[in-house]
Amino acid sequence: MSEILLQIDGREVKATEGMTILEAAQSAGISIPTLCHHEKLEPYGACRICTVEIESRGWTRLVAACLYPVEKDLVVRTRSEKVDRIRKMILELLMAHAPDSVALLDLAKEYGADRDRFEKEASFCIHCGLCVRYCAEVKKKYAVGFVDRGTRKEISFVPEIAAKECWDCKECFPLCPTSALQAAFVLTEALISHPPSFEPELEE
Ligand code: SF4
Ligand code: FES
Repeated sequence: MSEILLQIDGREVKATEGMTILEAAQSAGISIPTLCHHEKLEPYGACRICTVEIESRGWTRLVAACLYPVEKDLVVRTRSEKVDRIRKMILELLMAHAPDSVALLDLAKEYGADRDRFEKEASFCIHCGLCVRYCAEVKKKYAVGFVDRGTRKEISFVPEIAAKECWDCKECFPLCPTSALQAAFVLTEALISHPPSFEPELEE
């Protein structure tokens, strides 16, 4: 694999072809925040908190560091006024869904994001897809997926698979940046162990 030299935050960084900006930065000890990235999973590009500013062939652009591949002589800024403004806005939007997420609150402190800027629509899930993708890509079980679309989109366990596979696994729990997953699973557990009972309708 050929070596690529690029500049991140004024430092020369060595990377190899095919690496993303995020991987190159991490290998050089430069931190970029992420909410939907996991090293064992395919890049997903959902949260955009990893947005960085790049200069390439005379153009300045904002890109998702977890998706964008390194290029020779690329200049990357992981913090700038624009980058910080975008991260702040993303956090404010996400906190409308998951106002008590510790991961979001920590980042909010760093970027001066206001937890109460947008009206709360607490669904607790920020659609990072970590649980869904981990179960599919790493565990190959497909026990959890997304249902519905847009703002109504939420995760849901497939009870038949969850009953068999999740008891001894639960590896997706700690991945969740909002801890919604645990609540969803507990609910499913409850439904599985205490299925709602219906009185049979008796014919007269
Ligand atoms: S439940 Fe958590 S891990 Fe799963 S998609 Fe939502 S925020 Fe991400
Ligand atoms: S970490 Fe890059 S888009 Fe979420």
